[in-house]
Amino acid sequence: MEIVLNRESRRKTPTAVCLKENERLLGDSALGMSVKNPKTVYRHLQSLLGKRHDNLQVKIYQKRFPEHQLQDDPVRGTVYFNSSLETQYSPEELLGMLLNYSRELAQDFAEQPIKDAVITIPAFFNQAERRAVLHAAQMADLKVLQLIDDNAAVALNYGVFRRKDIDGTAKNVMFYDMGSGSTTATIVSYQTVKTKEFGTQPQLQIRGVGFDRTLGGFAMDLRLRDHLAMLFNNQKKSPKDVRDNHRAMAKLLKEAQRLKTVLSANVDFMAQVSREHPASICMRLSAVCAPQQTQPFKMTQKKKILENKEV
Ligand SMILES: Nc1ncnc2c1ncn2[C@@H]1O[C@H](COP(=O)(O)OP(=O)(O)OP(=O)(O)O)[C@@H](O)[C@H]1O
Ligand SMILES: [Mg+2]
Repeated sequence: MEIVLNRESRRKTPTAVCLKENERLLGDSALGMSVKNPKTVYRHLQSLLGKRHDNLQVKIYQKRFPEHQLQDDPVRGTVYFNSSLETQYSPEELLGMLLNYSRELAQDFAEQPIKDAVITIPAFFNQAERRAVLHAAQMADLKVLQLIDDNAAVALNYGVFRRKDIDGTAKNVMFYDMGSGSTTATIVSYQTVKTKEFGTQPQLQIRGVGFDRTLGGFAMDLRLRDHLAMLFNNQKKSPKDVRDNHRAMAKLLKEAQRLKTVLSANVDFMAQVSREHPASICMRLSAVCAPQQTQPFKMTQKKKILENKEV
């Protein structure tokens, strides 16, 4: 397996699209525009796919990104971005642009045209969300061979490189993935089984999945941002509330992300914000971020899939 680098020579491309006048930016360069012109940057599209305006995820999104106006499309029954009187974008359309960008990167790397794709999606995606991904792929003119749950893809990858460790006794492994927007815990059993056709073969079985759709690094960023905004307001340097200024809030969010990274490296950090502050803001979150304390972990346990000690 090869991970193709993007145009910035990075292994990871943020799912962000920036659209203004006749310009289209994708990935890191799109994200870079979020401070200068937040209204033109569309991100975290995953939480909007296949949903109506009254969906809780959409409401959370609207609160997180007040610079965007979301409206229901009566025909498709899902939300779209009402960017201006003449321009509207659906989350599927924007995701299609990102899929097309991914394809271009893969094509440049492989030096041949690419049409077929296997796309990984979160395990908790429902039918409407899966359809939205298929629709986006269709707009990017990709032929989807399969949608595969990302936890299944990870488990498969793990097993393929540990063939020697898999024998007749089931081994249980938990994969714990805290991303930017969501957290998932998956329990997988690896064991060899005897088949008539192919003899003894390794097999993996997904025993259970637990998830939290909103717990992730981004939730921490937002808490830090809100804390910085409060400190700024308290200084009363301006008569206006900084929280009403989208550009200022985007700037604070960027700083909050930087601050989180610095603090997570456990280095001493000296600035106007003391170490204790962010620690206490994120305390409630970090208390629940310890894998054993999170909902995803508890979900796998509640289902009594396996005893804790077996994993
Ligand atoms: N050094 C670091 N310290 C603290 N947090 C970090 C660090 N590096 C990355 N992160 C955070 O990890 C998160 C990204 O994780 P990951 O790449 O697994 O997410 P993702 O797969 O894009 O998100 P999702 O699975 O929710 O769609 C971001 O919130 C980012 O801020
Ligand atoms: Mg992820």
